[in-house]
Amino acid sequence: MSNLVLIGFMGAGKSSIGKALARSASMRFVDTDERVAKEADLSIPRIFEGSGEKHFRQLESKVVSDVAEMDDAVIATGGGVVLNDKNIEKLKKNGVIIYICLTESELIRRVRDLKDRPLLKDLDKDDTVHKLMKVRGPLYRKYADYIIDGNYPVNAIVEKINEAVFSDE
Ligand code: S3P
Repeated sequence: MSNLVLIGFMGAGKSSIGKALARSASMRFVDTDERVAKEADLSIPRIFEGSGEKHFRQLESKVVSDVAEMDDAVIATGGGVVLNDKNIEKLKKNGVIIYICLTESELIRRVRDLKDRPLLKDLDKDDTVHKLMKVRGPLYRKYADYIIDGNYPVNAIVEKINEAVFSDE
């Protein structure tokens, strides 16, 4: 297994943790949202506005297929990557799946300040987090090879991931 794949809800810290994890393990860092935006030459909110969520999910799946083929990469995924089981199937072929897990109340606290997440825009954020987590929470758990408590500083989480994954090898 050569890739470390981070999954979890918006605001869980996948990108910050992923960057620090890649540095600590001398691996490359890849962010699927960043790639989608780069390939579309549009920000994620613009993709949602212009073409809708379905189109975003198609672009996301294409990027997932590409990055799943990499070696020695830390891959931070978007919170909805688990909605398509084919995404996970591909990522699992060459990677271990690490779920950055937070309680719903902590997620609600964190997403309050996120401005660039189309799925949370103009909606009651507490209710939206609750509804999305009802569907996604079980999927994150089902697909995770490791579940890591995200309620710690980034460095401590990186240490926990390194301990969990590399002590298992
Ligand atoms: C999404 C999460 C976002 C991004 C898009 C949709 C989701 O990524 O992919 O806005 O469905 O949860 P982050 O999890 O990095 O915020």
